[in-house]
Amino acid sequence: MESNNHIVLVTGATGGLGTAMCTKLFADGYRVAANYRNKEKADAWQKKMKDDGVEVHIFDGDVTNYESVGKMIAEIEATLGPVDILVNNAGITRDGRFSKMSLEDWNAVISTNLDSVFNCSRHVINGMIDRKFGRIINISSVNGQRGQFGQANYSAAKAGMHGFTKTLAMEVAKYGVTVNTISPGYIGTDMVMAVEQKYRDAIVAQIPVGRLGGTHEVAHLVSFLASDEASFITGANYSINGGQHVY
Ligand code: CAA
Repeated sequence: MESNNHIVLVTGATGGLGTAMCTKLFADGYRVAANYRNKEKADAWQKKMKDDGVEVHIFDGDVTNYESVGKMIAEIEATLGPVDILVNNAGITRDGRFSKMSLEDWNAVISTNLDSVFNCSRHVINGMIDRKFGRIINISSVNGQRGQFGQANYSAAKAGMHGFTKTLAMEVAKYGVTVNTISPGYIGTDMVMAVEQKYRDAIVAQIPVGRLGGTHEVAHLVSFLASDEASFITGANYSINGGQHVY
């Protein structure tokens, strides 16, 4: 295992992508923090990670709530130290045709997938600026780049993430802080497997590589963007979609 002194916070870490990211970042030598809302679920996840040889530190924090995130970041700083790398990975879907979409489904997706990016980034950015080092990695989606039937809420939030990335990247570049977006395509997670099979099969048929992506493939890209060697990369949007959307 390599070692470095950086502390990384991965939001939404208990999901498929988050778990792979924590596993890879721990192997890279980071100290890994994750937020949770459901303690029982997080405890079970932490134990499973430990059984797999991965140490993760879990902290109570609701990414949709600015005050809750503030308390969580303070606790992480008091326990582990300052957050050097933030991976805004928390995300949900509430798919449905826009003509039938409820306000509740709109708000749930915007607050979890986009407001969370403000809430978490805002609480760590000034520390990163002061320390002259930081990485913010926003996990967006191919469906923020191109749109997807049934995902007006999700596409809007995911496209919004990259708008945020571009502006914040400009504002903090001179302080050694980089801000980038990763836009995964269809990866073999519970979120994608929840799509009805007939729709999922139609989507896989559009992927030139001919399969869903692996969570470890996205985790590897996160690890690269977190590294010291990626310091000249900022404001970028990395597609990782098996060729499904090329432009
Ligand atoms: N393209 C065109 N037409 C479509 C369609 C599509 N993709 N999906 C449904 N339709 C049409 C149907 O053919 C049907 O048409 P008719 O009425 O003319 O027969 C009509 O829409 C059915 O409408 P409904 O509102 O009843 O549709 P539904 O409830 O069966 O399905 C949906 C709607 C749930 C949104 C479904 O289309 C779906 O699951 N689509 C996939 C959404 C998707 O890709 N989600 C990704 C989740 S994973 C993720 O988001 C991770 C990531 O970042 C990639």
